[in-house]
Amino acid sequence: MSIVCTDLAKVYEGGKSGWPALRGLSFEIRRGEFVAVTGPSGCGKSTLLNILGLLDEPTGGVYSLNGRDAGAMSDSERSALRLGEIGFVFQAFHLLNRLSALDNVCLPLLYAGEYGAGMRHRASELLRKVGLHGKERKTPLELSGGERQRVAIARALANSPKIILADEPTGNLDSVSSGEIMEMLRQLNSEGITVVMVTHDLGLAGRAGRNIRIRDGRIEP
Ligand SMILES: Nc1ncnc2c1ncn2[C@@H]1O[C@H](COP(=O)(O)OP(=O)(O)OP(=O)(O)O)[C@@H](O)[C@H]1O
Ligand SMILES: [Mg+2]
Repeated sequence: MSIVCTDLAKVYEGGKSGWPALRGLSFEIRRGEFVAVTGPSGCGKSTLLNILGLLDEPTGGVYSLNGRDAGAMSDSERSALRLGEIGFVFQAFHLLNRLSALDNVCLPLLYAGEYGAGMRHRASELLRKVGLHGKERKTPLELSGGERQRVAIARALANSPKIILADEPTGNLDSVSSGEIMEMLRQLNSEGITVVMVTHDLGLAGRAGRNIRIRDGRIEP
């Protein structure tokens, strides 16, 4: 997955002239990179990640994903990319607390049309990959924060994404768990997945391949 943004802008509606969150960002992320996006609170990091993940659209500029202008994609093309190529990981995990770890990982597989023992086998393999073998039956509330984020990563991997977009994936974790999640993302990156991670933690950002720093909706040189 290659990402090219040219003069990307986002103005949220509201007030007289709207609220400019992104004010013209141009950058490229090549396939296989691990990029950390940093910058002060409110500078536009989540706004940018949502656009990269096709969850939101820019109000100006061009976002092109694998050479395709996202603005020219149909809704079905956008959702196919979201479901099949992009894995999301969020600060607040976004797991379903009534379901077991295994069933949380099964959800995207169900959406993709898998079922039965094959699906459960794949989900348990993913949980093993993130170090949660033996905890398949636990619900998120019975797991630590770091373990919850591992479940969320396993879920993000269910559809074999080419890119992982992570918005403050360690924001709710202590430093030991943060380091473990970072190592996991680095491992996935070394297996060929492009990773874009928003973080406040400059120590973690320093372990990414490259940093993009944003301030007031612009890239800092
Ligand atoms: N849905 C929205 N409607 C209006 N304004 C918004 C919306 N979402 C974000 N904003 C504004 O856009 C700016 C950028 O927000 P964004 O969430 O991208 O920042 P951020 O860098 O992710 O901050 P944080 O580090 O606190 O998560 C902020 O000033 C915010 O108030
Ligand atoms: Mg944010």
